[in-house]
Amino acid sequence: MLTPQSAESLATTLSALTPAYDSLLALAPYQTGKPVEELIFEYGISDVVKLASNENPLGCSPQVTLAVTEQLGQLARYPDGNGYYLKQALAEFNKIDAACITLGNGSNDLLDILARSFVSANDAIVYSQYAFVVYSMLAKMQGATGVEVPAKRFGHDLEAMSQAVHNQPNTKVVFIANPNNPTGTQLKQEEIQRFIANIPSSVLVVLDEAYIEYSPDSNNRALLDEFDNVVIVRTFSKAYGLAGLRVGYALSSVPVAKLINRIRQPFNVSRVGLAAAQAALADQDFIEYSRESNQEQKRWLEKQFDALGLGFVPSAGNFIMVEIAVEMEAVSATSVNQALLEQGVIVRPLAVYGLSNWLRITVGTAEDNLRLIDTLHSILTSQ
Ligand SMILES: Cc1ncc(COP(=O)(O)O)c(C=O)c1O
Repeated sequence: MLTPQSAESLATTLSALTPAYDSLLALAPYQTGKPVEELIFEYGISDVVKLASNENPLGCSPQVTLAVTEQLGQLARYPDGNGYYLKQALAEFNKIDAACITLGNGSNDLLDILARSFVSANDAIVYSQYAFVVYSMLAKMQGATGVEVPAKRFGHDLEAMSQAVHNQPNTKVVFIANPNNPTGTQLKQEEIQRFIANIPSSVLVVLDEAYIEYSPDSNNRALLDEFDNVVIVRTFSKAYGLAGLRVGYALSSVPVAKLINRIRQPFNVSRVGLAAAQAALADQDFIEYSRESNQEQKRWLEKQFDALGLGFVPSAGNFIMVEIAVEMEAVSATSVNQALLEQGVIVRPLAVYGLSNWLRITVGTAEDNLRLIDTLHSILTSQ
């Protein structure tokens, strides 16, 4: 396993080689949710529940299996580098011209492409405290200044972010996650609209809507008709249940799409990914079912957290951030996380966000959630 190294020790082991930017040495590797396989190996537990990566616990549409199977005889052939059919389907679904769409190997690929396309070492990227960790990583990757704006009640403080853009004239990109991961907070469209209208049109505003299907009110598609400096990034990894295939897309103005389409790798979405995403998009009944199940299970979990005396932040996504209060004797988020792991339940600690008393828990199926709550209950009452 790759272990994070301090900046100095990494610099030493690179000996005569120097990375493009010093900030690359300070880059902590992205921490993924612990894979089920690792837990089976480490603790010998076969019955593992993973509630750590905001995946859809219901899987994906059954239509996807058929679409994927059809591709299996064609694996020797490159995919369609332009993703024609998927783009057509997305264009119709989003009521937008296909020329405004860019496909990505997951939405992280698009966030990376956008940073590489617009941000250089003398520039700044603005994002909120507690926003998706990749934004601060992208600032370091570009050797740029990352401006983290203090959050307001765990969410984006758009007034302070607007101020930050004005104070930092070299700002090139603002990232806004709506709903935000890991806090689950959500902004109103009017707030976002006001924010964009108040900042220079030379600043690109990236609205990351990875969890939009769980919270259709967060859909800011209309802002694309009003502003040329807006990009909306979405993914098939969450509600569509295709995290393992890596497909995402960006909606933007035609010129922005033209530029970022040049920057992306020619075949950044696989043949199987393209076919699966198209089939998944066509099955909106599955999305409706996933949304309803998530809503129902989220409400149930909230009641259980209340009963356990655990604080949480109301979430617009398919996950909930839960506080393991410091007043609880002999209990910390770290110890609870460890005890959950030992009993086969994987959740996400949030120390990397500076939220070391909190755990992020993905909403699972009724069975997953019952197992989580029973395990949590036994951990908290045995202290
Ligand atoms: C807010 C947000 N944006 C983007 C992503 C990236 O997802 P993917 O690359 O799987 O599309 C995630 C994944 O956790 C996320 O939470």
